[in-house]
Amino acid sequence: MAKDFARMENSNCSSNPSFHEISDPARRTVLRAGLGVALGGLLAPLAGCASPGSHKPLLGFASVPVSTADRIVVPEGYIAQVIAPWGDPVGLPEHSPAFRTDAGNSAVEQAAQLGMHHDGIHYFALHGSERGLLVLNHEYTDEGLLFADGQQNWSAEKVRKAQAAHGVSVIEVVQRQGRWEQVRPSPWARRITAYTPMAVAGPAAGHALMRTSADPEGRRVLGTLNNCGSGITPWGTYLSCEENFINYFSGGDSLSEHEKRWGLRKGGGGGYRWHEHDARFDATREPNEPNRFGWIVEIDPMDPASTPIKRTALGRAAHEGATVTTTKDGRAVVYMGEDARFEYIYKFVSRDRIQSGGARANTTLLDHGTLYVARFDADGSGEWLPLTHGQGPLTAANGFADQGDVLIKSRQASDALGATKMDRPEWIDIDHQGWVYCTLTNNSNRGTGRNPGTDAANPRAGNSMGHIVRWKEDGDFDSTRMRWNHFVLAGDPANTRAEARGNVQGDLFACPDGLWTDARGLLWIQTDMSTSAMGKGDLARLGNNMMLAADPATGEIRRFLTGPRGCEITGATATPDGRTLFINIQHPGESPSERSDPADPGKYSTWPSGQPGARPRSATVVIRKRDGGVIGT
Ligand code: FEO
Ligand code: CA
Ligand code: CA
Ligand code: CA
Repeated sequence: MAKDFARMENSNCSSNPSFHEISDPARRTVLRAGLGVALGGLLAPLAGCASPGSHKPLLGFASVPVSTADRIVVPEGYIAQVIAPWGDPVGLPEHSPAFRTDAGNSAVEQAAQLGMHHDGIHYFALHGSERGLLVLNHEYTDEGLLFADGQQNWSAEKVRKAQAAHGVSVIEVVQRQGRWEQVRPSPWARRITAYTPMAVAGPAAGHALMRTSADPEGRRVLGTLNNCGSGITPWGTYLSCEENFINYFSGGDSLSEHEKRWGLRKGGGGGYRWHEHDARFDATREPNEPNRFGWIVEIDPMDPASTPIKRTALGRAAHEGATVTTTKDGRAVVYMGEDARFEYIYKFVSRDRIQSGGARANTTLLDHGTLYVARFDADGSGEWLPLTHGQGPLTAANGFADQGDVLIKSRQASDALGATKMDRPEWIDIDHQGWVYCTLTNNSNRGTGRNPGTDAANPRAGNSMGHIVRWKEDGDFDSTRMRWNHFVLAGDPANTRAEARGNVQGDLFACPDGLWTDARGLLWIQTDMSTSAMGKGDLARLGNNMMLAADPATGEIRRFLTGPRGCEITGATATPDGRTLFINIQHPGESPSERSDPADPGKYSTWPSGQPGARPRSATVVIRKRDGGVIGT
């Protein structure tokens, strides 16, 4: 496999003094003594990774400058091609409605088309690197683009269409002479929406807090919401992660402590207005319905008739992503970040070993195991604290009746355990030396008012730039102890304002979100500077959101791609040969208020069509080298 040759090429430099050691908390006194001197002194011998021949440079492209253009920019020698925009038919054999540029597609039509706001994505090979399935998430909707009259004349039909634009798409794609196109119809084509029936499995299945009037057993949920990051399992399934689900639910005038801890609000926090026409989103009528979201959903893309399953053993959170690795003895380990200010990083270790035989042989693997939450200590060590009922403070006396309770109330359980409150943990991935990286996108509230102050792992107050923390487990991936340091603090090292001064070695960026290690070991970083903050203050020089690649051995970061206006870059996957990269462009043309003006949908961007006044569409972008070479070389 391509992966193996790449791993051999990438002999590591870890025995050398590392750039990253300078942001190891144990050495912070050195840093404070003189950042410039420390950088100069430690970085110089690292250029080219010191001992000759020990590290073949992974970064082989010329970086692109920052951009404010309404288009994709890739390095010299690369081409970018748009496929699978919102609204194109997924290719259901029985129904394949064309996209209407006036937003006139019905709810039924939307349910047969790609959803809005593409996010996590993975390529599942059907025939090597020439033909496969792309499985991708649709995080949320912008009603100003989804409807010709936006949220005016709000109706049950509009709610249904918005729900149909959420969820997950499975499409078939094929490469012909270097260009990729969708295969339509396809027997694998599928839409999973906010009302697709799914099963609940694991310790919270059937729990009293999971039961509703429509589902008195608490084992069958309609739909998945706010599907953000994604992951894959070694047995060939896709993990879709439910992030800001609470924003779809409307609470009452008085909220329970549980509802408050999860951010429920009267009227809903996201302005979706589903509760006006769909009672299950009115938490005053169905108080347990929100408990049925915030889970990792497992989907078998190779079986279009399979039922998606919510895996409650992995805990409930505003999940960003789910990254799976294995212990030496073959158990699954899943790393997950909860993207919310002052929330946590989780790890699940399965009880059982992965069986050969694919998805059908591992149908309950993610239902049994131990969930942990991370505590990052000031001395550079860290501990994984088990969310296990009956252990430590997780007892009935403290409000946790059983393991289902612990998992449904994982935020409260992590609070009780004293886990470290992080600066919005987003995606997680693992490099070829076993370092596990997590993007912490930003947290402007750090150290303000009555909010938590800085700590060793989250060292900047008013963190507008974000950072990437990484750790190595003591021993195997199931260890409860680890050592950690900062891979990078985003921001300009020359910035005089300490809160935005970073230690980026290479091209500047801010607000890391998407994170993905390719087969050669390059660490790809995608940014999500919010549209309301973009172009202002410390972000002013950074232009549109971007994708960069980092060499974990040297710490060098190089800008690879810039996106169109008002988008974020998210999701990354490649063909097995490494010669085609797929990424997603989410919410091009997003307005600072996050809902477009239906009278002027193309105000900020008309990407990808470029036609005057056209509504912008999230889409997948295919990136290839003109010479057909491996991406990044
Ligand atoms: Fe959906 Fe944390 O981004
Ligand atoms: Ca994200
Ligand atoms: Ca984000
Ligand atoms: Ca977004």
